[in-house]
Amino acid sequence: MKKLQGKKAIVTGSSYGIGKAVALCFANEGCDLVVNYSKSEKKALEVVSEIEKTGARAIAIRADVSSSSEVKRMVEEAVAFLKTVDILVNNAGIIAFGTLEEIDDERLEKVLAINYKGTFYCCRETIPVMKRQNYGKIVNVSSIAGQQGDHATAPSYGSSKGAMNVLTKSLARQFGPYGINVNAVAPHAIITPMMDYWNKKRQEEMRKMIPVGRLGTPEDVASVVLFLVSDEASFVTGQIININGGYLMDS
Ligand SMILES: NC(=O)c1ccc[n+]([C@@H]2O[C@H](COP(=O)([O-])OP(=O)(O)OC[C@H]3O[C@@H](n4cnc5c(N)ncnc54)[C@H](O)[C@@H]3O)[C@@H](O)[C@H]2O)c1
Repeated sequence: MKKLQGKKAIVTGSSYGIGKAVALCFANEGCDLVVNYSKSEKKALEVVSEIEKTGARAIAIRADVSSSSEVKRMVEEAVAFLKTVDILVNNAGIIAFGTLEEIDDERLEKVLAINYKGTFYCCRETIPVMKRQNYGKIVNVSSIAGQQGDHATAPSYGSSKGAMNVLTKSLARQFGPYGINVNAVAPHAIITPMMDYWNKKRQEEMRKMIPVGRLGTPEDVASVVLFLVSDEASFVTGQIININGGYLMDS
């Protein structure tokens, strides 16, 4: 029996990177999907084709998660296609570099709008659907930077992820009585296009600081997200789960 047979999910930002790995992992477990993307339609349609090869159903929906009206439309289209939403993975995110003194208003607004407000909007539109069926699983893709703070070069990114962590705990408390589990994962050093910001020398320095001796893969994140949305984790909520090869062991 597949772990998510018959379940319906939205994964934001799933045309590549961690989101794509999560979507394919869910599809292999029998889950139908919305593949959300903001710009990369061609890649999103390729993910839809890969999902359909597993026997699961999928649709690509364009929506910039930083726009509340686009998120509202995405969830309406998702419900029209899937009939309901059992699982929401808030994965869409961007990194923003610039010290406190360097970062301008526009970049600060953008990182908060996509990483934090986008998660808020997606939860706000999807939770009423989950409440109606007294069942739902939400996983927010946060970051190690949300717990320990980010390097001096990216304080706005770390803050956006810290806000996601507090939102995760707040929603877990509020919606636990409605059968809705809300958790977050906090990855570190996962090889995706986002890591292209670090050159090979920096990536090797990061690898040496990780006890398991390697960088992470999108699939390392997807398998933990799968556990959190499965009924095996029904007594787990309001948690921030580290996925970092042992780099950070506290908090
Ligand atoms: N790669 C890592 O080491 C790492 C570490 C910690 C946290 N994360 C987090 O994991 C998540 C996925 O990151 P990734 O490494 O796959 O990065 P990535 O840049 O490869 O992918 C980001 C995804 O988000 C989508 N996206 C960006 N802006 C969007 C918007 N406005 N609306 C909808 N979709 C949008 C992109 O299209 C893409 O699919 C992010 O939230 C990121 O902060 C990644």
